[in-house]
Amino acid sequence: METYIRIAVQKKGRLSEDSLRLIRECGIRFNNGKGALKAKSEDFPMEFLFLRDDDIPGYVADGVADLGIIGENVAVEKGKNIEVIKELGFSKCRLSLAVPREVEYNGIKDLDGGHIATSYPVLLGKYLKEQGVSASIHEISGSVEIAPGIGLADAVCDIVSTGSTLLSNGLKEVESIFKSQAVMVATPGLSAEKKALLDKFLFRIDAVQRAKR
Ligand code: PRP
Ligand code: MG
Ligand code: ZN
Repeated sequence: METYIRIAVQKKGRLSEDSLRLIRECGIRFNNGKGALKAKSEDFPMEFLFLRDDDIPGYVADGVADLGIIGENVAVEKGKNIEVIKELGFSKCRLSLAVPREVEYNGIKDLDGGHIATSYPVLLGKYLKEQGVSASIHEISGSVEIAPGIGLADAVCDIVSTGSTLLSNGLKEVESIFKSQAVMVATPGLSAEKKALLDKFLFRIDAVQRAKR
C-alpha cells in the first residue's frame, strides 16, 4: 500500500480557511465540498480529516492523524503527546481575560476570590498562579462570553481576535495572557516514510511563506 500522511484540519471556524488555503498554496489539491469529513488529495499522498479544532490534539496524540493544524493555545492547553513542529504565522489571536463593560477594573487582584469561565483551564490556571491570584475556574467548552451575563461568572478568559464577540456580549478585555497563532502539530515517532512526506510538505510551506515575505 502507498504511504500517505493524514492531516487533521478545522472543519469550520477561524483557522479553517487559512489552513486550507496554505495547503492549496502548497500545490496540494483536494475536494472538501458538501460537508465531507474526509478527503484525499489526487496529487500528493495526503488525506484530510475535517474536525472540530478542540478535538484535533486528541486525534494527533492517538496517532489517528499524523499531523494537525491548530491554535498554539489549543496545542499548549491539550498538548499531551503531541509535538509542535512549525509556527504558521496566520490566525493570530490572544487569550484574554474580560469583564462586563460596566465593571470597574483596577488590576488582576480584582479577580481574587472570583469566578472565571473559560475553555482553557490549564493556561488560565498557570497565569493566575503566576499572578498569585486565587479564583475558581469554571470550564465550559463554548459560548464562554455568555457566562457573566447569566450570572455564571465574574469574568471570562477566551480567545480574542477582532474583539467583536466581546463587544457584542457587553464585555471589555482587561488582561492579555497568551499570544497565539496557528501551528502545525505532529504525532511523535512518525515512520521514516511519513517523515519523508512531512519534510516535502514542510519544504513547500517554507517556500509559500518565503514568497509572502
Ligand atoms: C473564538 C472565541 C470567540 C471568537 C473571538 O472562538 O471563542 O468566540 O473566537 O473572535 P473575535 O474577537 O474576532 O470576535 P474560536 O474561533 O476558537 O471557535 P470555537 O470556540 O468554536 O472553537
Ligand atoms: Mg476553538
Ligand atoms: Zn463555576
